Amino acid sequence: MRRTVFHVLLVAVIAGSLGVSLMLRGDPAQPNRRVPTNMADSVAYDSFAPNPVFADGKTLQTPPAGSIARGYLPLHYQAGPEEAERAGKELSNPFAADPVVQLERGAAIYQSFCVVCHGAGGLGDGPVTRRGVPPPPSLLAENALQLSDGQMFHILTYGQNNMASYAAQISRDDRWRVILHVRSLQGKLATSQPSTPFGATSPETSEVQP
Ligand code: HEC
Repeated sequence: MRRTVFHVLLVAVIAGSLGVSLMLRGDPAQPNRRVPTNMADSVAYDSFAPNPVFADGKTLQTPPAGSIARGYLPLHYQAGPEEAERAGKELSNPFAADPVVQLERGAAIYQSFCVVCHGAGGLGDGPVTRRGVPPPPSLLAENALQLSDGQMFHILTYGQNNMASYAAQISRDDRWRVILHVRSLQGKLATSQPSTPFGATSPETSEVQP
């Protein structure tokens, strides 16, 4: 008898709670009832929300003129030979004080980006020149020997005639490092060890691969 009463009560409770939950079912398109909480509603203004505090009514303020984004350094040069000359006068290699430490990276960059045209030893005999691409001037020739680091940096950054800009492929620091390698090929690096051109020791690497 007591069991029957218990079962009836149980069914009634279940049916009752089902009924209540059906009755309370709101519009699913609307947000549910919620306890006010700062985790859902930010006290701070959202970046793109209107803002009564500022005169222009925006939360995200326009940076003052001349602001420099973090991690970005502007370079105040344009393309062209005059600008290359100016860069040559104004810029110096930031790694000049400790070149040997940076050389390994510079050689790797040269191997990846320059060897194809300039050749392992910088003589302008890279593999593409044997496939019809006009050879670049030797980096050991008088003209290149006379270029200052800043001029070379400008050439790598903005390109020069047939040579394209490498600013998009090679970071600013790596452009300075690869110049160290060119100096080492030229025998102009003060602390230069005997400069073994990258890959020059194995004859296969300087051959055109079919
Ligand atoms: C697609 C072929 C090619 C690649 C790759 C290339 N260069 Fe050049 N480079 C040239 C040509 C062609 C010139 C000559 C441009 C001119 O006529 O003024 C040149 C010129 C130069 C000069 C100036 C030489 C001078 O006497 O005026 C330097 C320095 C130089 N390159 C360095 C590099 C370095 C460092 C790299 C690798 C980051 C590189 N180049 C990649 C083709 C290339």
